[in-house]
Amino acid sequence: MTLKDKRILLIIAGGIAAYKSLDLIRRLRERGAVVIPVMTRAAEEFVTQLAVGALAAHKVHTDLFSREDEIDVGHIRLARDCDLVLVAPATADLMGKMANGLANDLASTILLATDRPVLMAPAMNPKMWSNLAVSRNASQLLSDGVRCIGPMRGEMAEGGEAGTGRMAEPLEIVAEVEKLLDTASKPLAGRKAIVTSGPTHEPIDPVRYIANRSSGTQGHAIAAALARAGADVTLVSGPVTLADPAGVKVIHIERAEEMRDAVLAELPADIAVMVAAVADWRVASASGEKIKKSADGSVPILQFAENPDILKTVGHHEKRPKLVIGFAAETNDIETNARAKLDRKGADLIVANDVSPETGIMGGKRNTVTIVSRDGIERWPEMSKDDVAQKLVAVIAEKLLG
Ligand code: CTP
Repeated sequence: MTLKDKRILLIIAGGIAAYKSLDLIRRLRERGAVVIPVMTRAAEEFVTQLAVGALAAHKVHTDLFSREDEIDVGHIRLARDCDLVLVAPATADLMGKMANGLANDLASTILLATDRPVLMAPAMNPKMWSNLAVSRNASQLLSDGVRCIGPMRGEMAEGGEAGTGRMAEPLEIVAEVEKLLDTASKPLAGRKAIVTSGPTHEPIDPVRYIANRSSGTQGHAIAAALARAGADVTLVSGPVTLADPAGVKVIHIERAEEMRDAVLAELPADIAVMVAAVADWRVASASGEKIKKSADGSVPILQFAENPDILKTVGHHEKRPKLVIGFAAETNDIETNARAKLDRKGADLIVANDVSPETGIMGGKRNTVTIVSRDGIERWPEMSKDDVAQKLVAVIAEKLLG
Protein backbone atom coordinates (compact mmCIF):
# COMPACT_ATOMS: atom_id res chain seq x y z
CA MET A 1 0.00 0.00 0.00
CA THR A 2 2.62 2.49 -1.13
CA LEU A 3 0.02 5.22 -1.71
CA LYS A 4 -2.11 4.61 1.36
CA ASP A 5 -4.47 7.56 1.95
CA LYS A 6 -2.70 9.70 -0.65
CA ARG A 7 -5.24 11.92 -2.38
CA ILE A 8 -4.68 12.02 -6.14
CA LEU A 9 -6.76 14.48 -8.14
CA LEU A 10 -6.90 12.80 -11.54
CA ILE A 11 -7.75 15.07 -14.46
CA ILE A 12 -8.82 13.09 -17.51
CA ALA A 13 -8.69 15.13 -20.70
CA GLY A 14 -10.28 14.21 -24.02
CA GLY A 15 -8.08 11.81 -25.90
CA ILE A 16 -8.34 8.18 -26.91
CA ALA A 17 -5.79 7.29 -24.19
CA ALA A 18 -8.52 8.12 -21.66
CA TYR A 19 -9.42 4.42 -21.79
CA LYS A 20 -6.11 3.71 -20.01
CA SER A 21 -7.11 6.11 -17.24
CA LEU A 22 -9.68 3.55 -16.11
CA ASP A 23 -6.92 1.04 -15.44
CA LEU A 24 -4.81 3.82 -13.91
CA ILE A 25 -7.57 4.50 -11.37
CA ARG A 26 -7.60 0.81 -10.40
CA ARG A 27 -3.81 0.69 -10.04
CA LEU A 28 -3.74 3.80 -7.87
CA ARG A 29 -6.52 2.49 -5.66
CA GLU A 30 -4.87 -0.94 -5.33
CA ARG A 31 -2.01 0.93 -3.67
CA GLY A 32 -4.32 2.65 -1.23
CA ALA A 33 -4.75 6.01 -2.99
CA VAL A 34 -7.97 8.01 -2.91
CA VAL A 35 -8.69 9.06 -6.50
CA ILE A 36 -10.74 12.21 -7.05
CA PRO A 37 -11.67 12.28 -10.74
CA VAL A 38 -12.14 15.40 -12.83
CA MET A 39 -13.19 15.00 -16.46
CA THR A 40 -13.15 17.55 -19.23
CA ARG A 41 -16.13 17.82 -21.53
CA ALA A 42 -14.11 16.14 -24.31
CA ALA A 43 -13.07 13.26 -22.01
CA GLU A 44 -16.73 12.31 -21.74
CA GLU A 45 -16.67 11.56 -25.46
CA PHE A 46 -14.17 8.76 -24.74
CA VAL A 47 -15.09 7.33 -21.34
CA THR A 48 -18.22 7.71 -19.29
CA GLN A 49 -18.65 9.38 -15.93
CA LEU A 50 -20.30 6.17 -14.82
CA ALA A 51 -17.22 4.04 -15.50
CA VAL A 52 -14.80 6.58 -14.02
CA GLY A 53 -16.95 7.15 -10.92
CA ALA A 54 -17.50 3.44 -10.36
CA LEU A 55 -13.80 2.58 -10.57
CA ALA A 56 -12.79 5.52 -8.40
CA ALA A 57 -15.70 4.95 -5.98
CA HIS A 58 -15.83 8.74 -5.90
CA LYS A 59 -17.93 11.54 -7.31
CA VAL A 60 -16.69 12.71 -10.71
CA HIS A 61 -16.29 16.49 -11.02
CA THR A 62 -16.91 17.99 -14.43
CA ASP A 63 -18.50 21.38 -14.15
CA LEU A 64 -16.89 24.67 -13.13
CA PHE A 65 -20.26 26.29 -12.74
CA SER A 66 -21.99 23.53 -10.80
CA ARG A 67 -23.84 25.31 -7.95
CA GLU A 68 -24.04 22.08 -6.02
CA ASP A 69 -20.28 21.41 -6.30
CA GLU A 70 -19.36 24.98 -5.47
CA ILE A 71 -21.41 24.85 -2.26
CA ASP A 72 -20.07 21.38 -1.47
CA VAL A 73 -16.32 21.68 -2.10
CA GLY A 74 -15.61 24.54 -4.49
CA HIS A 75 -13.02 24.37 -7.23
CA ILE A 76 -10.32 26.05 -5.13
CA ARG A 77 -10.61 23.48 -2.36
CA LEU A 78 -10.73 20.71 -4.92
CA ALA A 79 -7.46 22.05 -6.37
CA ARG A 80 -5.71 22.03 -3.01
CA ASP A 81 -7.25 19.21 -1.00
CA CYS A 82 -4.99 16.60 -2.56
CA ASP A 83 -1.35 15.46 -2.49
CA LEU A 84 -0.87 15.51 -6.25
CA VAL A 85 -2.67 16.63 -9.38
CA LEU A 86 -2.24 14.01 -12.09
CA VAL A 87 -3.24 14.86 -15.66
CA ALA A 88 -3.66 11.64 -17.65
CA PRO A 89 -4.05 11.85 -20.52
CA ALA A 90 -2.75 15.39 -20.97
CA THR A 91 -3.91 16.49 -24.42
CA ALA A 92 -2.32 19.15 -26.61
CA ASP A 93 -5.29 21.39 -25.86
CA LEU A 94 -5.09 21.10 -22.09
CA MET A 95 -1.30 21.50 -22.16
CA GLY A 96 -1.77 24.65 -24.21
CA LYS A 97 -4.16 26.06 -21.63
CA MET A 98 -1.85 25.09 -18.75
CA ALA A 99 1.19 26.65 -20.40
CA ASN A 100 -0.64 29.89 -21.09
CA GLY A 101 -2.58 30.23 -17.86
CA LEU A 102 -6.03 29.87 -19.41
CA ALA A 103 -8.92 28.72 -17.28
CA ASN A 104 -12.23 28.22 -19.03
CA ASP A 105 -13.34 24.92 -17.55
CA LEU A 106 -12.98 23.02 -14.29
CA ALA A 107 -9.79 21.11 -15.24
CA SER A 108 -7.86 24.17 -16.42
CA THR A 109 -9.09 26.26 -13.48
CA ILE A 110 -7.92 23.62 -11.01
CA LEU A 111 -4.52 23.57 -12.71
CA LEU A 112 -4.23 27.34 -12.21
CA ALA A 113 -5.50 27.28 -8.65
CA THR A 114 -3.52 24.34 -7.30
CA ASP A 115 -0.47 24.68 -5.09
CA ARG A 116 0.23 20.92 -5.23
CA PRO A 117 2.75 19.14 -7.47
CA VAL A 118 1.40 18.47 -10.95
CA LEU A 119 2.33 15.41 -13.01
CA MET A 120 1.18 15.15 -16.61
CA ALA A 121 1.16 12.14 -18.90
CA PRO A 122 0.84 13.54 -22.43
CA ALA A 123 -0.85 11.49 -25.12
CA MET A 124 -1.48 12.59 -28.66
CA ASN A 125 -0.77 11.85 -32.28
CA PRO A 126 3.02 11.85 -32.96
CA LYS A 127 2.66 14.72 -35.46
CA MET A 128 0.88 16.78 -32.84
CA TRP A 129 3.55 15.96 -30.22
CA SER A 130 6.30 17.13 -32.58
CA ASN A 131 4.39 20.30 -33.55
CA LEU A 132 6.40 23.38 -32.61
CA ALA A 133 3.59 24.97 -30.59
CA VAL A 134 3.12 21.79 -28.55
CA SER A 135 6.90 21.48 -28.01
CA ARG A 136 6.97 25.10 -26.85
CA ASN A 137 4.13 24.48 -24.42
CA ALA A 138 5.75 21.28 -23.13
CA SER A 139 9.07 23.04 -22.44
CA GLN A 140 7.25 25.94 -20.80
CA LEU A 141 5.41 23.55 -18.51
CA LEU A 142 8.63 21.75 -17.57
CA SER A 143 10.31 25.04 -16.71
CA ASP A 144 7.21 26.01 -14.69
CA GLY A 145 7.87 22.93 -12.55
CA VAL A 146 5.21 20.60 -13.97
CA ARG A 147 6.50 17.00 -13.98
CA CYS A 148 6.04 14.92 -17.07
CA ILE A 149 6.04 11.22 -17.86
CA GLY A 150 6.10 10.18 -21.49
CA PRO A 151 4.85 10.28 -24.07
CA MET A 152 6.33 6.97 -25.14
CA ARG A 153 7.23 5.61 -28.55
CA GLY A 154 5.05 2.94 -30.06
CA GLU A 155 1.83 2.19 -31.88
CA MET A 156 -0.99 4.65 -31.41
CA ALA A 157 -4.26 3.32 -29.95
CA GLU A 158 -6.09 4.35 -33.11
CA GLY A 159 -3.73 2.07 -35.06
CA GLY A 160 -1.82 2.51 -38.25
CA GLU A 161 0.62 5.08 -36.93
CA ALA A 162 3.71 4.75 -34.82
CA GLY A 163 5.96 7.34 -33.22
CA THR A 164 6.25 9.27 -29.97
CA GLY A 165 2.87 10.14 -28.56
CA ARG A 166 1.57 7.08 -26.72
CA MET A 167 0.58 7.69 -23.08
CA ALA A 168 2.85 6.00 -20.53
CA GLU A 169 1.41 2.75 -19.22
CA PRO A 170 -0.63 2.96 -16.00
CA LEU A 171 2.03 1.11 -13.97
CA GLU A 172 4.74 3.47 -15.23
CA ILE A 173 2.59 6.42 -14.18
CA VAL A 174 1.98 4.83 -10.77
CA ALA A 175 5.75 4.36 -10.29
CA GLU A 176 6.27 8.05 -11.13
CA VAL A 177 3.55 9.05 -8.66
CA GLU A 178 5.25 6.95 -5.97
CA LYS A 179 8.58 8.54 -6.81
CA LEU A 180 7.14 12.05 -6.65
CA LEU A 181 5.39 11.44 -3.37
CA ASP A 182 8.42 9.44 -2.21
CA THR A 183 6.25 6.57 -1.11
CA ALA A 184 7.79 3.90 -3.32
CA SER A 185 8.39 0.65 -1.54
CA LYS A 186 11.96 0.20 -0.33
CA PRO A 187 12.82 -3.35 -1.47
CA LEU A 188 16.56 -2.73 -1.04
CA ALA A 189 16.39 -1.39 2.53
CA GLY A 190 19.35 -2.71 4.50
CA ARG A 191 21.36 -3.56 1.36
CA LYS A 192 24.60 -1.85 0.48
CA ALA A 193 25.41 -0.84 -3.11
CA ILE A 194 28.55 0.55 -4.72
CA VAL A 195 28.18 2.41 -8.01
CA THR A 196 30.94 3.84 -10.20
CA SER A 197 30.13 6.64 -12.60
CA GLY A 198 31.63 9.17 -14.99
CA PRO A 199 34.98 9.13 -16.76
CA THR A 200 38.40 8.91 -15.22
CA HIS A 201 41.07 11.49 -15.91
CA GLU A 202 44.56 10.11 -16.39
CA PRO A 203 47.22 12.79 -16.00
CA ILE A 204 49.92 13.41 -18.59
CA ASP A 205 51.44 16.19 -16.51
CA PRO A 206 49.99 18.54 -13.84
CA VAL A 207 47.83 20.42 -16.39
CA ARG A 208 47.00 17.83 -19.05
CA TYR A 209 45.05 14.61 -18.91
CA ILE A 210 43.47 11.87 -21.01
CA ALA A 211 39.70 11.54 -20.64
CA ASN A 212 36.61 10.27 -22.43
CA ARG A 213 33.13 11.54 -23.25
CA SER A 214 31.24 9.94 -20.34
CA SER A 215 28.97 12.46 -18.57
CA GLY A 216 28.05 10.26 -15.60
CA THR A 217 24.31 10.73 -16.29
CA GLN A 218 23.50 7.00 -16.34
CA GLY A 219 25.66 6.06 -13.34
CA HIS A 220 24.34 8.91 -11.23
CA ALA A 221 20.75 8.00 -12.16
CA ILE A 222 21.38 4.41 -11.05
CA ALA A 223 22.86 5.54 -7.74
CA ALA A 224 19.82 7.77 -7.16
CA ALA A 225 17.36 5.00 -8.09
CA LEU A 226 19.09 2.51 -5.77
CA ALA A 227 18.87 5.05 -2.94
CA ARG A 228 15.16 5.60 -3.64
CA ALA A 229 14.69 1.84 -3.39
CA GLY A 230 16.14 2.03 0.11
CA ALA A 231 19.73 0.86 -0.52
CA ASP A 232 22.68 2.35 1.32
CA VAL A 233 24.58 3.68 -1.70
CA THR A 234 28.20 4.76 -2.19
CA LEU A 235 28.83 6.43 -5.53
CA VAL A 236 32.46 6.59 -6.63
CA SER A 237 32.48 9.26 -9.30
CA GLY A 238 35.06 10.52 -11.74
CA PRO A 239 35.05 14.22 -12.70
CA VAL A 240 31.54 15.20 -13.84
CA THR A 241 29.49 18.38 -13.85
CA LEU A 242 26.45 16.70 -12.28
CA ALA A 243 25.22 17.43 -8.77
CA ASP A 244 25.67 14.68 -6.17
CA PRO A 245 22.44 12.63 -6.05
CA ALA A 246 20.34 13.07 -2.92
CA GLY A 247 20.74 10.52 -0.14
CA VAL A 248 23.92 9.00 -1.59
CA LYS A 249 27.47 8.96 -0.16
CA VAL A 250 29.68 10.32 -2.95
CA ILE A 251 33.44 9.80 -3.21
CA HIS A 252 35.03 12.01 -5.86
CA ILE A 253 38.13 10.66 -7.57
CA GLU A 254 40.05 11.44 -10.75
CA ARG A 255 42.20 8.46 -11.73
CA ALA A 256 41.29 4.78 -12.31
CA GLU A 257 43.63 3.65 -9.53
CA GLU A 258 41.91 6.02 -7.10
CA MET A 259 38.54 4.67 -8.24
CA ARG A 260 39.68 1.09 -7.62
CA ASP A 261 41.00 1.95 -4.14
CA ALA A 262 37.76 3.74 -3.21
CA VAL A 263 35.62 0.84 -4.47
CA LEU A 264 37.65 -1.85 -2.68
CA ALA A 265 37.60 0.15 0.57
CA GLU A 266 33.78 0.06 0.42
CA LEU A 267 33.57 -3.77 0.30
CA PRO A 268 31.75 -5.79 1.53
CA ALA A 269 28.57 -4.83 -0.27
CA ASP A 270 25.51 -6.62 -1.65
CA ILE A 271 25.45 -4.92 -5.04
CA ALA A 272 28.13 -3.44 -7.31
CA VAL A 273 27.12 -1.56 -10.45
CA MET A 274 30.17 -0.47 -12.39
CA VAL A 275 28.97 2.17 -14.82
CA ALA A 276 32.10 4.33 -15.04
CA ALA A 277 33.90 4.65 -18.34
CA VAL A 278 37.25 3.84 -16.76
CA ALA A 279 40.25 4.70 -18.91
CA ASP A 280 41.87 1.43 -19.95
CA TRP A 281 45.32 2.99 -19.94
CA ARG A 282 47.18 5.61 -17.99
CA VAL A 283 50.38 7.40 -18.91
CA ALA A 284 53.09 5.13 -17.49
CA SER A 285 55.07 7.88 -15.90
CA ALA A 286 53.12 11.11 -15.76
CA SER A 287 55.43 14.09 -15.58
CA GLY A 288 55.55 15.94 -12.26
CA GLU A 289 56.12 19.17 -14.17
CA LYS A 290 54.39 20.70 -17.15
CA ILE A 291 55.92 19.29 -20.32
CA LYS A 292 57.39 22.12 -22.39
CA LYS A 293 57.54 22.40 -26.15
CA SER A 294 61.04 21.62 -27.27
CA ALA A 295 63.02 24.09 -29.32
CA ASP A 296 63.85 21.56 -32.04
CA GLY A 297 60.18 20.74 -32.71
CA SER A 298 60.37 17.15 -31.40
CA VAL A 299 57.11 15.94 -29.82
CA PRO A 300 56.71 13.97 -26.60
CA ILE A 301 56.06 10.24 -26.92
CA LEU A 302 53.71 8.89 -24.27
CA GLN A 303 54.21 5.40 -22.91
CA PHE A 304 51.01 3.80 -21.56
CA ALA A 305 50.42 1.30 -18.77
CA GLU A 306 47.24 -0.72 -18.35
CA ASN A 307 44.86 0.46 -15.64
CA PRO A 308 43.36 -1.95 -13.13
CA ASP A 309 40.07 -3.41 -14.32
CA ILE A 310 37.81 -2.50 -11.42
CA LEU A 311 34.81 -4.56 -12.50
CA LYS A 312 36.99 -7.64 -13.00
CA THR A 313 38.70 -7.10 -9.64
CA VAL A 314 35.34 -6.83 -7.86
CA GLY A 315 33.87 -9.74 -9.85
CA HIS A 316 36.65 -12.06 -8.67
CA HIS A 317 37.18 -10.60 -5.19
CA GLU A 318 36.97 -12.74 -2.05
CA LYS A 319 34.42 -10.22 -0.76
CA ARG A 320 32.53 -10.31 -4.08
CA PRO A 321 29.09 -8.68 -3.77
CA LYS A 322 26.15 -11.02 -4.40
CA LEU A 323 25.26 -9.12 -7.52
CA VAL A 324 27.93 -7.64 -9.80
CA ILE A 325 26.76 -5.62 -12.78
CA GLY A 326 28.92 -4.17 -15.51
CA PHE A 327 28.27 -1.95 -18.48
CA ALA A 328 29.57 -2.56 -21.96
CA ALA A 329 30.03 0.47 -24.14
CA GLU A 330 30.22 -0.97 -27.61
CA THR A 331 30.15 0.35 -31.12
CA ASN A 332 29.77 -3.02 -32.88
CA ASP A 333 28.84 -6.70 -32.19
CA ILE A 334 27.16 -5.49 -29.04
CA GLU A 335 25.70 -8.77 -27.77
CA THR A 336 28.64 -11.03 -28.61
CA ASN A 337 31.02 -8.65 -26.88
CA ALA A 338 28.74 -8.30 -23.85
CA ARG A 339 28.48 -12.09 -23.39
CA ALA A 340 32.25 -12.44 -23.51
CA LYS A 341 32.56 -9.62 -20.98
CA LEU A 342 30.14 -11.39 -18.61
CA ASP A 343 32.55 -14.30 -18.16
CA ARG A 344 35.79 -12.41 -18.41
CA LYS A 345 34.82 -9.92 -15.75
CA GLY A 346 32.96 -12.27 -13.38
CA ALA A 347 29.74 -10.28 -13.68
CA ASP A 348 26.16 -11.50 -13.22
CA LEU A 349 24.72 -9.00 -15.64
CA ILE A 350 26.08 -6.80 -18.39
CA VAL A 351 24.14 -3.77 -19.53
CA ALA A 352 25.23 -3.31 -23.11
CA ASN A 353 24.73 -0.05 -24.92
CA ASP A 354 25.56 1.10 -28.38
CA VAL A 355 27.77 4.15 -28.11
CA SER A 356 28.30 4.68 -31.84
CA PRO A 357 28.50 8.46 -32.31
CA GLU A 358 25.19 8.56 -34.22
CA THR A 359 23.24 7.26 -31.17
CA GLY A 360 24.16 10.36 -29.13
CA ILE A 361 24.09 8.17 -26.01
CA MET A 362 27.37 9.36 -24.57
CA GLY A 363 26.55 12.63 -22.88
CA GLY A 364 22.86 12.37 -23.95
CA LYS A 365 19.77 11.90 -21.80
CA ARG A 366 18.37 8.76 -23.43
CA ASN A 367 19.67 5.24 -23.73
CA THR A 368 18.85 2.00 -25.51
CA VAL A 369 20.24 -0.98 -23.64
CA THR A 370 20.35 -4.75 -23.86
CA ILE A 371 20.55 -6.70 -20.61
CA VAL A 372 22.79 -9.74 -20.97
CA SER A 373 22.87 -12.43 -18.27
CA ARG A 374 23.54 -16.17 -18.23
CA ASP A 375 19.76 -16.67 -18.49
CA GLY A 376 19.62 -14.87 -21.84
CA ILE A 377 19.28 -11.41 -23.25
CA GLU A 378 16.57 -8.80 -22.97
CA ARG A 379 16.36 -5.79 -25.26
CA TRP A 380 14.81 -2.69 -23.74
CA PRO A 381 13.28 0.02 -25.93
CA GLU A 382 14.80 3.49 -26.00
CA MET A 383 13.97 5.38 -22.81
CA SER A 384 15.39 8.09 -20.59
CA LYS A 385 18.47 7.23 -18.53
CA ASP A 386 16.30 7.74 -15.40
CA ASP A 387 13.89 5.09 -16.66
CA VAL A 388 16.76 2.71 -17.45
CA ALA A 389 17.95 3.24 -13.87
CA GLN A 390 14.52 2.59 -12.40
CA LYS A 391 13.99 -0.58 -14.47
CA LEU A 392 17.48 -1.83 -13.66
CA VAL A 393 16.83 -1.38 -9.95
CA ALA A 394 13.66 -3.48 -10.32
CA VAL A 395 15.79 -6.22 -11.97
CA ILE A 396 18.36 -5.93 -9.16
CA ALA A 397 15.67 -6.26 -6.48
CA GLU A 398 14.22 -9.31 -8.22
CA LYS A 399 17.60 -11.02 -8.63
CA LEU A 400 18.61 -10.30 -5.06
CA LEU A 401 15.35 -11.01 -3.29
CA GLY A 402 14.03 -13.70 -5.64
N1 CTP B 1 35.62 -1.26 -16.28
C1 CTP B 1 36.29 -1.18 -15.07
N2 CTP B 1 37.62 -0.90 -15.06
C2 CTP B 1 38.30 -0.73 -16.21
C3 CTP B 1 37.63 -0.82 -17.45
C4 CTP B 1 36.28 -1.09 -17.46
O1 CTP B 1 35.67 -1.33 -14.03
N3 CTP B 1 39.58 -0.46 -16.16
C5 CTP B 1 34.19 -1.61 -16.29
C6 CTP B 1 33.28 -0.53 -16.75
O2 CTP B 1 32.84 0.25 -15.66
C7 CTP B 1 32.14 -1.32 -17.36
C8 CTP B 1 32.82 -2.55 -17.92
O3 CTP B 1 34.03 -2.65 -17.19
O4 CTP B 1 31.24 -1.76 -16.38
C9 CTP B 1 33.06 -2.55 -19.40
O5 CTP B 1 34.01 -1.66 -19.80
P1 CTP B 1 34.50 -1.55 -21.32
O6 CTP B 1 35.48 -0.45 -21.38
O7 CTP B 1 33.34 -1.48 -22.21
O8 CTP B 1 35.18 -2.95 -21.55
P2 CTP B 1 36.67 -3.35 -21.58
O9 CTP B 1 36.95 -4.31 -20.52
O10 CTP B 1 37.53 -2.15 -21.60
O11 CTP B 1 36.78 -4.11 -22.94
P3 CTP B 1 36.93 -3.52 -24.39
O12 CTP B 1 37.53 -2.14 -24.27
O13 CTP B 1 37.81 -4.50 -25.02
O14 CTP B 1 35.55 -3.50 -24.94
